[in-house]
Amino acid sequence: MGTIALCGFMGCGKTGVGRRIARLTGKKFVDMDIYIEEKKGMSVKEIFDVFGEEHFRELETLVIEELSLAGDSIIATGGGTVLNPKNVEAFHKNGIKIIFIDAPLSALQERLKNDRRRPLLQRDDRREFIAQLHKKRYPLYKAAADIVINGGAPAIVVAKNIVEVIKG
Ligand code: S3P
Repeated sequence: MGTIALCGFMGCGKTGVGRRIARLTGKKFVDMDIYIEEKKGMSVKEIFDVFGEEHFRELETLVIEELSLAGDSIIATGGGTVLNPKNVEAFHKNGIKIIFIDAPLSALQERLKNDRRRPLLQRDDRREFIAQLHKKRYPLYKAAADIVINGGAPAIVVAKNIVEVIKG
């Protein structure tokens, strides 16, 4: 089944679902945010604060090349990764399938309401901001994806659905 990259909005379950797919399939799991944090020795929030979002986006693009060479794995991307067509091309060029975990907006708002970690969400109008950003990004996730999976279920259910689909 090769390497797969999970994409979707913050809070859609990329990390939790990815870990479970890895457990079910015996493949390696890599979370791009954690990979970048370990490489830089800083949290994503610190990278945004100190170097800015642009720099973080450059790091994402660099990391895709590295991860593409790492052998079969399950990659959880960050919520903004596949919005850059260059990143989508890089995944596809390396034979990596992109799966969009499509969770309902209301579930995302609920899951993200107390988040203190994600730099983009540290604002008073969070609920409305999530709605706006989700509207803007939704068509881009769909366009990037080879497969769309419903993310409105518990992580283990979503993971099993993805395993079923990718095993064909
Ligand atoms: C971002 C999502 C985050 C992280 C960064 C930016 C985004 O990842 O990469 O805070 O632009 O949507 P998660 O989707 O894993 O929270």
